[in-house]
Amino acid sequence: MSNAFDFAPLLRPDLPPAAPKFAGAPKYNFTGGHGDQDQFPVDGLVAAANSALRRDGRTLATYGFGIDGPQGHRGLREFLVKKLKSDAGIACTIDNILITSGSLQALDLVNGVLLSRGDTVVIERDCYQGTINRYARLGVNAIGIPLDHDGMRIDALSNALDDLKRSGVRPKFIYTIPTIHNPTCTILPQDRRAALLKLAQAHNVPIFEDDCYCDLIWDGKRPPALYAMSSHGGVVHIGSFSKSIGPALRVGYIVAPWELMSRILPLKQDAGSGAIEQMVLAEYCSPHFEERIAKLRQGLRRKRDTMKEALNEQFGTAAEFDDTKGGMFLWVKLPDNVDTMKLYQPALAAGVAINPGPEWSVDKAHSKSRMRLCFAGPTHDEIRKGVAALAEVCHREFGVPTRISNVSR
Ligand SMILES: Cc1ncc(COP(=O)(O)O)c(C=O)c1O
Repeated sequence: MSNAFDFAPLLRPDLPPAAPKFAGAPKYNFTGGHGDQDQFPVDGLVAAANSALRRDGRTLATYGFGIDGPQGHRGLREFLVKKLKSDAGIACTIDNILITSGSLQALDLVNGVLLSRGDTVVIERDCYQGTINRYARLGVNAIGIPLDHDGMRIDALSNALDDLKRSGVRPKFIYTIPTIHNPTCTILPQDRRAALLKLAQAHNVPIFEDDCYCDLIWDGKRPPALYAMSSHGGVVHIGSFSKSIGPALRVGYIVAPWELMSRILPLKQDAGSGAIEQMVLAEYCSPHFEERIAKLRQGLRRKRDTMKEALNEQFGTAAEFDDTKGGMFLWVKLPDNVDTMKLYQPALAAGVAINPGPEWSVDKAHSKSRMRLCFAGPTHDEIRKGVAALAEVCHREFGVPTRISNVSR
């Protein structure tokens, strides 16, 4: 007999399904946005933690950073003001920046001030799962705009906005990941950014710009942020240290005009995000960020090349993907008969974890035979072996790929 209290009848009716217990990490993990452990700057962070804590550690005795106020560590926000200006062209002050617990909290806060059940938002058709799931939970209708090799298609966006207008619907915002999109890794060029802003302004719809991969462009040359290019101020920008330093730190940020920031702040009711992380990042990033990022980009590009080679070798022409300009993913198209929602379980049983396409898209038919593979976490050897194991499973389940390196399976 169980002596466990029965919470079931008391639970809210609209909860997501119960979580499974953690069953350990898969041998070949191509899921999530994990970074490269071998490249993690342990020594630099140890030194930064030592000096920051010795100098400022006493402030940990306070809530909300004492004199720094509720928007987060002042030094970190000052670093961001400089970085956002020099990289993304954003002119802002520390009052426009709120440090959050990862950019997931930034998503929640921006959604929290703008969205109600029944609202409509416009997003890229293939999109970050964390964003899609949030709209589903909030009861928000997400209209997906197709992408091409240069990101969101502006002609399709224009048609969608016109359709919505005809139906009397004003979308709450256009959510976009313009700078190394997740999952396609496309980069929206500057002229499309200008066209997007023009359309948004014409329809009086703000833009929600999610820029967490912006540091991972191979040649380091990014187009200016939508926030920087906007002449009417209708853009909220979020970013993160998860991809540039490490996701376990849980440090992200929101950049917003004060009118919106002043409405967001009362919703952040957690008495501030973790302070040690912010102190250490502020200490580390000012002198080391550029050098760290340059090395990280090189390492990621080499892993991307290894994954491309492994896919070409193991899947041949059965796996199609773009030649990405940055990021940590490949968005792979397999032949139409492959259903990646059905590939996922047998692959996991063989030790290979993949992200099935339909979880990263609002168009389930279009994404059925697509999958997202992250190459940042596994080693080069694991990438080769994991892709080979995946090809075996895919062949067994779907007869694809049929031939590998001219050898019939
Ligand atoms: C587009 C996008 N936004 C937000 C996040 C959330 O990242 P974090 O909370 O680690 O900053 C991710 C994570 O992968 C992402 O891909």
